Amino acid sequence: MIAPAHDVHILGTGSYTPSHVLTNQDLEAMVDTSDEWIVTRTGIRERRIADPDTPSSFLASEAAKRALDDAGVSAKELDQIIVGTVTGDRIFPSTGCSVQDILGASNAYAFDVSAACAGWMYGLQIGRDAVRAGTAKTVLVIGVESLSKIVNWTDRNTCVLFGDAAGAVVLRSRGEPGGILATRVHSDGSLVHLLEMPAGGSLMPPSHLTVERQLHVIHMSGNDVFKHAVRAMQAVALEVLEAAGKKAEDLALLVPHQANLRIIEATAHRLGVPMEKVFVNLDKYGNTSSASIPLALDEARRSGRIQKGDLVAMVTFGGGFTWAGAVVQF
Ligand code: ACO
Repeated sequence: MIAPAHDVHILGTGSYTPSHVLTNQDLEAMVDTSDEWIVTRTGIRERRIADPDTPSSFLASEAAKRALDDAGVSAKELDQIIVGTVTGDRIFPSTGCSVQDILGASNAYAFDVSAACAGWMYGLQIGRDAVRAGTAKTVLVIGVESLSKIVNWTDRNTCVLFGDAAGAVVLRSRGEPGGILATRVHSDGSLVHLLEMPAGGSLMPPSHLTVERQLHVIHMSGNDVFKHAVRAMQAVALEVLEAAGKKAEDLALLVPHQANLRIIEATAHRLGVPMEKVFVNLDKYGNTSSASIPLALDEARRSGRIQKGDLVAMVTFGGGFTWAGAVVQF
């Protein structure tokens, strides 16, 4: 049994994005859209797309290697590997098991978390709780998505929004105050149909018909998602700040889910957080679902936007619906 710990810290961060850039101009040649529409309505200018034969486990393990290196932790020291994803390598076994194999993390156990855009944040809470409980000492939490593989590239309502990426963090107690001060996770299963990939599971197994009807791609009610996202991200931000005993004005940085600049601006406005204190990189990557926050977090740290001692809040929202927040003292 590993000693339970109270103060669980993010020891290191890492991320990986495929090199292929798909710009708004490229999309203009594919569907009836324009750079102006996409930038005005979403803030996205380009996104990264993985090669057709590159699986999520590759993106995830590249991000994981960088996080381990940053943390100064070897793969053999890992006890638990959690992968938040809705675009894993296959329905089963888990992408976590593939990542374990690639990393040579032979002392860990691995699994996936399915919570759409909130998958990584759910994983952060599960991993933090494992260290607190003493069932794991060192945890790797990855968010990875290959959304390009489940996007309908003829549907302008969705194909302009998404991209591929991975981000990862290493969790461990440092025996000093700080770290993950509070987390909150939520879901509302009555709203599953507002954002889903309808077929491919036991509800609607793959068939010629499901392929013909284009049911193996993302279906989304954009306006409904938008409204719920703003409300839920504000509410969970306030809830988790209160749980941490902090206020919005104490934050050095807010790292929100990178789905839409208008959602981010509305959330920040409602919280009274000025945009100078909000990290935004969706112009370069689009919405990368569960990879979005760990990718943003890694870029924020490596570019110096997060310094030791800084108080950072993260909030997310996604299909399910699911939503979550965390407050971390770096
Ligand atoms: N190019 C040009 N026109 C477009 C495009 C496009 N790519 N997409 C839609 N339009 C058109 C629509 O057809 C519609 O035309 P119509 O009025 O003739 O019917 C018009 O633009 C307006 O469409 P709306 O859906 O009202 O546009 P809105 O301003 O709501 O923006 C968007 C749509 C960007 C999808 C927005 O609702 C949104 O971002 N929602 C959140 C969705 C999201 O981020 N989902 C990801 C998963 S969950 C999460 O990560 C939060």
